[in-house]
Amino acid sequence: MASNVSELTTYKAYLGGKWEESSSGQTIAIKSPYLRETIGFVQAVTQEEVDAAIRAAHQAQKKWAALSLNERGAVLDRWADELIKNEKEIAGTVMHEVGKGDRDSRKEVVRTADLIRYTVQEALHMHGESLRGDGFPGGSQKKLGIVEREPLGVVLAISPFNYPVNLAASKIAPALMAGNGVIFKPATQGSISGIKMIEALDKAGLPKGVLSLTTGRGSVIGDYLVEHKGINMISFTGGTNTGRRLSKQSTMIPLVLELGGKDPALVCEDADLDVTVKSIINGAFSYSGQRCTAIKRVIVNEKIADRLVARLKNEVENLSVGSPEEDSTIVPLIDDPSADFVQRLIDDALARNATLIAGNRRRDNLIYPTLLDNVTKDMDVAWIEPFGPVLPVIRVKSDREAVEIANQSEFGLQASIFTQDIDRALAVARQVEAGTVQINGRTERGPDHFPFLGVKASGMGVQGIHNSLLSMSRQKVTVLNLK
Ligand code: NAP
Ligand code: G3P
Repeated sequence: MASNVSELTTYKAYLGGKWEESSSGQTIAIKSPYLRETIGFVQAVTQEEVDAAIRAAHQAQKKWAALSLNERGAVLDRWADELIKNEKEIAGTVMHEVGKGDRDSRKEVVRTADLIRYTVQEALHMHGESLRGDGFPGGSQKKLGIVEREPLGVVLAISPFNYPVNLAASKIAPALMAGNGVIFKPATQGSISGIKMIEALDKAGLPKGVLSLTTGRGSVIGDYLVEHKGINMISFTGGTNTGRRLSKQSTMIPLVLELGGKDPALVCEDADLDVTVKSIINGAFSYSGQRCTAIKRVIVNEKIADRLVARLKNEVENLSVGSPEEDSTIVPLIDDPSADFVQRLIDDALARNATLIAGNRRRDNLIYPTLLDNVTKDMDVAWIEPFGPVLPVIRVKSDREAVEIANQSEFGLQASIFTQDIDRALAVARQVEAGTVQINGRTERGPDHFPFLGVKASGMGVQGIHNSLLSMSRQKVTVLNLK
């Protein structure tokens, strides 16, 4: 990466099919979380540029929707090819911009190409249905209903920093395949990765104007985008507070929100500790816990707690800590305020007599993996999402108590249950308030064709390829009244 400012790139926004500098004349410096230096600048677009981009999207969308599924699919397949062709460069950008390990960044790019290709195939094989009137009492055989799907118009796709390519494409690909126009607002810290991804889409031949990439701080341009009358659907992934704000502002349009989480690992006394420890360590600490589906609390039966904590301690103390360039598991967090936030949760827990088993060390925005035992319900870390490498252990006497604590959380994204008794696992799974329950595995979104959803403060609506195609289109019923 360039070391001095004059060599740094000022990236353009993609507006109405053209790469342009904003008329605002303002740019935003993007600072690498681990290099701790500016790696480039992105445009701060204006409201007028948003208006023009949305107008262009509505105009281009009509012709885009008129193309056949195969023609739209061909563009997206070329997009996937371009991503793979530029895997190294795009993954390198992801690593520099959000501090994700090189291997995980490459995996993210490949996973995204796979997601795009799967989306094309899924769309090609989604068929409508027909109904005969006499299926209902008194209905006539001469009434034939034909149900098809149509695009919604222009979709606003807003993505978070931690998967700047995959979580953006998981919105853009289905939106485009369903025949929509798209306004893409990447996380500011993730904008350069988003730009690289859209450069690939532009190269793949997406017709001009169908999609625009509007960079700019959500706190400045976000409200204007969300409230814009030209937006027909919003697909948002990010924090719960932002999602709540957004859901109050948008009016009468479909909304899919994928928000925060506080995923529990419920560990029964009969759990296979090898499986349990591996899943918890990987689930809680990969990418420094900066995953919405990270395991963010362990609720363990007291009969096995000492053995589990001892095993977790050993693993935590051996986690690799350092630079994403060495594929360390624990890397600097996205920025200093995030690290301050995590440290405050650790300090609060220790002040309230949690037991420090490992960690509680910090260097700038690098928080060492921290394991806290004997966490109680009066501690913030029992309830608040850290989005960092801190894992609280809560001890309970029964499954009932474990489920009670799990469900007291405002969140309901995923949960893991560890037991060797499948009937017990299913009984607990049915009681846990979450979008997804993993049995004897870590909490995770993938594979991307699975439904992915959060309940309560973790979201609204469902992602996952098939569900995203449905949420970004609507039914159209044509009724033939035969003679
Ligand atoms: P965030 O701060 O909520 O930002 C998410 C996106 O919203 C960013 O593009 C942000 O832009 C934009 N934004 C901010 N204010 C806005 C506003 N008023 N109107 C419209 N957009 C606005 O979340 P993050 O820090 O990027 O990601 C971490 C959070 O996202 C965590 O809570 C994590 O659990 C959650 N997350 C959830 C999932 C899931 O699938 N459930 C996946 C990943 C992350 P700026 O970057 O410019 O502020
Ligand atoms: O936080 C991003 C969320 O989508 C996690 O994805 O695949 O790491 O569980 P994954």
